[in-house]
Amino acid sequence: MNPAPIDHLHADLTAARYRVDVLDGIWGSSAAAALFRGQTLPARRELERRLAVPADGERPVPRPVETLARLFVLGDSVTVADLRGALPATGVQGALELGIVGIVDGDAELGGGAFGDDSRVRALLDLRPYSFVDSLGAGSWWIVSDLGEGALGRALDEDHVLGVGGASMTLSGLMIASPVDSVLDLGTGCGIQALHAARFARRVVATDISRRALALAEFNARLNRVESIEFRHGSLFEPVAGEQFDRIVSNPPFVITPRVDGVPLYEYRDGGLVGDGLVESVVRQLGAHLRPGGIAQLLGNWEYRDAVPASASAGTAAAPGSDAAASGPASGAVGRQDGLERVRSWVPRSGEHALDVWVIERERQDAPTYAETWIRDGGTRPGTPAFDALYAAWLDDFRDRGVTEVGFGYLLFRRPAAGAPTLARYERLDEGLGSNPVGLGDHVAACLDGHDWSVRHDDEALLRATLVYASDITEERHFWPGQEDPVVMTLRQGGGFGRSVSLDTGLAAFIGTCDGDLSVRAICGALAEVLAVDEAALTAELLPSIRSLLADAILLPA
Ligand SMILES: C[S@@+](CC[C@H](N)C(=O)[O-])C[C@H]1O[C@@H](n2cnc3c(N)ncnc32)[C@H](O)[C@@H]1O
Repeated sequence: MNPAPIDHLHADLTAARYRVDVLDGIWGSSAAAALFRGQTLPARRELERRLAVPADGERPVPRPVETLARLFVLGDSVTVADLRGALPATGVQGALELGIVGIVDGDAELGGGAFGDDSRVRALLDLRPYSFVDSLGAGSWWIVSDLGEGALGRALDEDHVLGVGGASMTLSGLMIASPVDSVLDLGTGCGIQALHAARFARRVVATDISRRALALAEFNARLNRVESIEFRHGSLFEPVAGEQFDRIVSNPPFVITPRVDGVPLYEYRDGGLVGDGLVESVVRQLGAHLRPGGIAQLLGNWEYRDAVPASASAGTAAAPGSDAAASGPASGAVGRQDGLERVRSWVPRSGEHALDVWVIERERQDAPTYAETWIRDGGTRPGTPAFDALYAAWLDDFRDRGVTEVGFGYLLFRRPAAGAPTLARYERLDEGLGSNPVGLGDHVAACLDGHDWSVRHDDEALLRATLVYASDITEERHFWPGQEDPVVMTLRQGGGFGRSVSLDTGLAAFIGTCDGDLSVRAICGALAEVLAVDEAALTAELLPSIRSLLADAILLPA
């Protein structure tokens, strides 16, 4: 990679103020929201209104940011003259050589470099600003990726390199951003997780099976002046054989795809294994690549299976040699299996690479809905023969393997710093999350800290400790009309996972008294007296709830 033209592009994009806030200022927040949904029309209309030729005047010269927005966000063609005005340091020739734009078809016949000011160029890559706020502060980058379905006007290519999508932002928001030496970003795509990790890690290794993705990720690192990322080509953990990291992050290609001819294998979302075998494979190998105390955070899908006759499953067994094939009945197709139980069966809990685990299921789709979602995601439109053929392939695969539903969620693993794993948490979160303007990473870290503190403190030590309740906690009380005593009390967590906890009188009073002053034992004693109950019985009842509230960062060690 020749860095000089990318540095020129950096200078031009900076000078043009090609930024999210500037674009939002041009077309407004509802057009920006429509763009996020893949709809360009509201933004295009607003830009056209600004650039319209007045009845009695000349065409206004577009500002560089307007040209860049038309070209790269809306997918419109612009003139060579406008592009030159928008990218003065890069130049038109430089932009062509970088591969971010091409001369549109008609003029391409003019041959090497022979284009005029009125020739038109269009984007060959998506290049857009991306802004974020994490626990380290606000930041802003430019991200190059492949053009989406809207700009292409057709289904995506199989080697499509994904831009920053909803799942990317979910994972980057979940990332625990405390300073570490090393992070592995497995399946880096356009490099977005690696860029985020570079904010808190001394060095980042970013891998991908797609050389094209690696090239774009490297481009993005250079464009954003991030120098601590090393890019390596290869499948899963092959490029880091024998290496261990403080953190691993991965938004892996987890989409469950039928393995039959005619179904596109989108590299960006499909790891090529049967069913949820790719996620299983990553989970089984993680432990060997985490340093003691190291944490891995992933997104993933897992299957819910109904009992199917062994004969029905025989035809769609896992690919030979795949981890799905190797793992036997746990990933076979016979017998009913709950999705979270399925994930549990993948996690090593003993031996050298035993892991702490916390899995949160955020969503579950039935088989047809899942198939529709991902066929649509590839750019194949419903109501077409191509869509119906793919739909049938998906439904056949699910039927043959007994898959009834697919879960989606967050997976966290930790290699214990010493000793055996202590954390094994599998849960479904059906409600919305709390408010997390800087992402969930800090909250996830606080929950791990709460769990660890609780493990380190036996009941006697816990009774001696003083606790406080978190600042985002409120309590709701509901009364029968005219009554003084509440009939329902609920604790609400404003941030984090937005948990609600049903309270009885004892627990409500206990939490309310946790201001870091009195010990747990002193509060239990005082409450027993006020409530006129046996102190030992009340304490025994409260301790498990207190430990659970510590693990949810609702109560914190003072
Ligand atoms: C869902 S994308 C995630 C991209 C990016 N990390 C993000 O969060 O937006 C998955 C990435 O994994 C890559 N990939 C697919 N199969 C892989 C494999 N066997 N080993 C490593 N990477 C793979 C794809 O090329 C793609 O870039």
